[in-house]
Amino acid sequence: MGQVTQYTIRRYTLDDAATIARHRVEMFRDMGEVPTEELARDLLGKSTSALAVLLADGSYVGWFAIDTGGNVIAGAGVHIKLQLPRISHGHVRVEHSPVPLAVNVYTEPQWRGKGIARALMRELLRWASEQRTDRVVLHASNAGRPLYESLGFHSTNEMRWFVPGTNG
Ligand SMILES: CC(C)(COP(=O)(O)OP(=O)(O)OC[C@H]1O[C@@H](n2cnc3c(N)ncnc32)[C@H](O)[C@@H]1OP(=O)(O)O)[C@@H](O)C(=O)NCCC(=O)NCCS
Repeated sequence: MGQVTQYTIRRYTLDDAATIARHRVEMFRDMGEVPTEELARDLLGKSTSALAVLLADGSYVGWFAIDTGGNVIAGAGVHIKLQLPRISHGHVRVEHSPVPLAVNVYTEPQWRGKGIARALMRELLRWASEQRTDRVVLHASNAGRPLYESLGFHSTNEMRWFVPGTNG
């Protein structure tokens, strides 16, 4: 019989900004987008401050997985963003609910491949199903894409344009 991975899932509290920010930095590092420690520190500090504000005003929620020793081993968050009115995906009404953007999905390397991110995303999608919203959006990393696709996410038409001269 295979070994069972033991962990529990809990909602973020108002004190979790620094840990979520650390996940955010490590997530971008794993995606190859953090070339220097100086940038990592800057991102960590600014993310901690920004997340503390969003957690406090209720526009950021999420979940941690906790091991039996009480350590945070993974997390998944939602930034709830206001949007302009849109036609609902069933084309039957005008929808004006905020849209949850799933962010900061991260599992500590030694805990990967055990279904923890999947369990956190299921929690997130269960939460979303109980909200006044019709969708969840996210930007997938290569590592995350198979997970999201298996949960029913599909690619959309988002495009991106960088303002000339802003890459310095
Ligand atoms: C992406 C990430 C969160 C997945 O975490 P995890 O806890 O290992 O994921 P799970 O064990 O729940 O696996 C979920 C699915 O991901 C895919 N997956 C997981 N590990 C994989 C691997 N080594 N190779 C290919 N696919 C893999 C599988 O589809 C898997 O589903 P399955 O177990 O039913 O086959 C983790 O790899 C991570 O933190 N990566 C760095 C940060 C990042 O890219 N985050 C996502 C940002 S959008």
